[in-house]
Amino acid sequence: MSDATIIDGKAFAAGLRARLADQVARLKEAHGITPGLSVVLVGEDPASQVYVRNKGKATAEAGMKSDQFNMPETASAEEVLAKVAALDADPEVNGILVQLPLPPQVDSAAVINAIDPGKDIDGFHVINVGRLATGQESLVPCTPLGCLLMLKDYAGPLVGKRAIVVGRSNIVGKPMAQLLIRESCTVTIAHSKTQDLPGECRRADIVIAAVGKPEMVRGDWIKPGATVIDVGINRIERDGKMKLVGDVAFEEALTVAGAITPVPGGVGPMTIACLLRNTLHAACRQHGLEVPPETI
Ligand code: GUN
Repeated sequence: MSDATIIDGKAFAAGLRARLADQVARLKEAHGITPGLSVVLVGEDPASQVYVRNKGKATAEAGMKSDQFNMPETASAEEVLAKVAALDADPEVNGILVQLPLPPQVDSAAVINAIDPGKDIDGFHVINVGRLATGQESLVPCTPLGCLLMLKDYAGPLVGKRAIVVGRSNIVGKPMAQLLIRESCTVTIAHSKTQDLPGECRRADIVIAAVGKPEMVRGDWIKPGATVIDVGINRIERDGKMKLVGDVAFEEALTVAGAITPVPGGVGPMTIACLLRNTLHAACRQHGLEVPPETI
């Protein structure tokens, strides 16, 4: 059998970002509206700084207004909540993203649930989580949304397919499972206590790996022809060099799967594109406009 198709997340994301930039320009021209995203970064975690910088750059490149608010590692919960309240009240701010993790003195759930659900472009607010789970219109978390868009293009019709989501986080695993249920897949959510994880994976037409364990999913866990989406980004040392690897043993899976996302260059770029999409959709809804179908 020939090797799997490598899903080019970078190219996929570039296409979506170009369509979004187009629609942002139209929104400006037709309605004088420039969508705005505000990002709050508490502390100086280097990885978070890189993520936030990339998000800001992509937002500006799409023609949107991008603001970043840095707060010290020692910021109190009250100070972070006051920042969120000010952004909630600002009509120029259509999307709010508070970068996680937050320092221990700040309750993440309280901060997320203080964001206006219509501006919660992460889709983490309990109202958006509940809306997604009950099939109502909502803002959907960016990483699982990016995975779904790629699956729709590469996995053929999703109806009736067996999907396994390895990992049960609030950011990826649980919303991913909800999205797949909405597409009429038969969904298994696996986690660290799952018995016979290799056997569970082998039954699946679609494997979503989101556990944060380098190369945990092996090639012989994959059903021949399955579509594999690797959400993991793990920095490991190999042959004396630092290397980024996913949660899937890529070279092994490549010889078995039908299609697979690489790390880097798979899910990562799609997450940022979906953040821009959510910001545009939030801005449209806040102004009582329909979201452009080209960007759904
Ligand atoms: N930290 C890591 N991923 C994310 C994300 O998608 N959103 C936020 N707000 N913080 C994160």
